[in-house]
Amino acid sequence: MAVDTEAHFTTAPLSGVLGAEVSGLDLSVALGGEVVADLRRAFVEHQVLVFRGQNLSPEQQIAFGAQFGELDTHPFVVANPDHPEVIEVITEADDVTNFGGGWHSDLTFLERPDLGSILYAVKPPPHGGDTLFASQFAAYDALSDTMKSMIDGLTAVHSAGPQYGDGGLSTQSKAMATKDADEAMKHTVEHPVVRTHPESGRKGLFVNQAFTVRIKGLRAPESAAMLQLLHGYATHESFTCRVQWDPGTLVMWDNRSVQHFALFDYRGHRRHMRRITIKGDRPT
Ligand code: SIN
Repeated sequence: MAVDTEAHFTTAPLSGVLGAEVSGLDLSVALGGEVVADLRRAFVEHQVLVFRGQNLSPEQQIAFGAQFGELDTHPFVVANPDHPEVIEVITEADDVTNFGGGWHSDLTFLERPDLGSILYAVKPPPHGGDTLFASQFAAYDALSDTMKSMIDGLTAVHSAGPQYGDGGLSTQSKAMATKDADEAMKHTVEHPVVRTHPESGRKGLFVNQAFTVRIKGLRAPESAAMLQLLHGYATHESFTCRVQWDPGTLVMWDNRSVQHFALFDYRGHRRHMRRITIKGDRPT
């Protein structure tokens, strides 16, 4: 059921945990301060917002995103030649792997991981190619108080290496060129295992299978076992919602509290999406 929570648009939940479909807005035009403030509140509350039936050029998508903060450029994916903020997320019909095809939060290998991502469906495949989202608040809330107190002060090490280093999983795509593999291998950053959301104050898990390489202060087998347990919570199906794409669907998600997974169940078909990301702050 659609809820008229704000005067400018309505929201309808996608699942009992996270995600909402937003109706009543044309994102190709400037929205105005009040609408943007209402949308931002809805974004923090629902974590994933879905807008259907949009018709956006790259410039219009950039202008929409810029209303929520400064846009970032991807350090390891070659951008759209005309728009450094844009990456074209493409799976070719004969690709054997896809970009984003594993649970992750975007760019957690940065000191300041991106706050949110905005993905627009240019040409989804005729079937499949949905994206799953998981609430990291729900995952944290499900832990026992004893477990919460064990992990609350822990720090995790993140690296771009496994995805963007030499032979990395995200370097295999045919249409998406990556760069600076040596740089990707070189750097690691540290983030708290439990992150407090800077706008809502809620706590959520902040480790992911793509970029978190270990937990500091634990021996290797201890770290691996702890991460495996946390990943199980972080990606549990009870904490998810699922978005099916039509041409013109736009989704924005909160990387501070959400992980996502681009399903690859459309072999033999091309999938073309366009992504921008909004710069974030240092997790605490
Ligand atoms: C991504 O990880 O940003 C890609 C998500 C998708 O293509 O559905």
